[in-house]
Amino acid sequence: MRLAVTLAAVSAVAAGAAVALASGAQAGSTLGASAAEKGRYFGTAVAAGKLSNSQYTGILDREFNMITPENEMKWDATEPSQGQFRYTSADQIVAHAQAHGQRMRGHALLWYQQEPGWAQNMSGSALRSAMMNHVSTVAGHYKGKIYAWDVVNEAFADGNSGGRRDSNLQRTGNDWIEAAFRAARAADPGAKLCYNDYNTDGINAKSTGVYNMVKDFRSRGVPIDCVGFQSHLGGLPPSDYQANLQRFADLGVEVQITELDISGSNQATAYANVVKACLNVSRCAGITTWGIRDSDSWRTGENPLLFDANGNKKAAYTATLNALNGPGSTVSTPPVSSPPPVSSSPGGGTGNGCTATVSLNQWDGGFVATVRVTAGSSAINSWTVTLPVPSGVTVTGSWNVTRSGNSWTNVSYNGHVEAGQYTEFGFQATGTASGLNPACSAA
Ligand code: XIL
Repeated sequence: MRLAVTLAAVSAVAAGAAVALASGAQAGSTLGASAAEKGRYFGTAVAAGKLSNSQYTGILDREFNMITPENEMKWDATEPSQGQFRYTSADQIVAHAQAHGQRMRGHALLWYQQEPGWAQNMSGSALRSAMMNHVSTVAGHYKGKIYAWDVVNEAFADGNSGGRRDSNLQRTGNDWIEAAFRAARAADPGAKLCYNDYNTDGINAKSTGVYNMVKDFRSRGVPIDCVGFQSHLGGLPPSDYQANLQRFADLGVEVQITELDISGSNQATAYANVVKACLNVSRCAGITTWGIRDSDSWRTGENPLLFDANGNKKAAYTATLNALNGPGSTVSTPPVSSPPPVSSSPGGGTGNGCTATVSLNQWDGGFVATVRVTAGSSAINSWTVTLPVPSGVTVTGSWNVTRSGNSWTNVSYNGHVEAGQYTEFGFQATGTASGLNPACSAA
């Protein structure tokens, strides 16, 4: 009898809790649990060197269910000498995440900052090869362990140009970003592949430049699944913050807040506004703060995080938690088709051709040629460009292609091109480019 009463009481409480949860009144009491109730994650940047600090790991494992290594997966950390990979610190963070049921964001495969010295000193085709090898090797090492990779970080210029930032990476050819995404997809097909940047938090020239790139990638079948908005803010997010997230989401990619930290006196409101914006965009998958305690922040003295130096919850924490528990889409992030949809090829086997065009970036004594292979009215699965090298020209390196004399043939990841779409390969050479007349054939 007593047992029956107890069981009845338990089930009544359980039913009440379910009702209360559904109405949002008694939702989660940690950032991670509350985000999960909305189908989102809540993450933080972690430094491997702090994993021995029990206050730090206590907050980490209580509040966060996604981890980004703050520095340990960057190029200078993972490939300090060319071809010699070092994963010790990053692996420590991955092991911690796996032991505590947390997922990982990988950060970052290619970035113009925190390049190892040897890469800073490289350029042209040698650098391009090193970049692709880095992407393939690191993404391959972590295959199956990464929820999303920042494949390319901060490649767009600040200001009004809307164009790319100059860097030795960019100088290897404008197609470096798509080449990196293709290499990352081949190395870890299960990871979502993101482009990540800052000052892209509202609708402005820089974010529009990124938007146009993502739109172009989606239309051409370049594998991109998500866009990261760093959101290093100095007060309230821009008034069009949510609209900006939404326009990217409408391209079919997931959006993520990747490095959130906010300085200023209206910090609590600012955090709440960011959370609300994410909850209002169904493809906003989650939020990551760039550190745990103010004393962990890279923005020294600005106290931009959710916990104070003693690990206490700040007003911004409470505002964030309340916003997570407030109204907002409870729908899980819709799956993003991968690879993205491209225009379908018409049936029939006729016109299975391609065209090739060359564009040049020349200087005194050398040049980089970018060759664009455009499929005809049907999709193609492989291609060969016949391009005789003029006398006096020596090819010193090439990318996205296999060369045999005058024949330039696709590699594994760029043979398939949808009808009317294109892919590009390139080479660097000494001498003068003249009379470069490519011919294309496809199967
Ligand atoms: C920062 C780290 O927090 C610092 O520890 C490091 O000294 C420099 O990099 N954008 C990014 C992050 O994508 O990788 C940067 O992290 C902050 C800006």
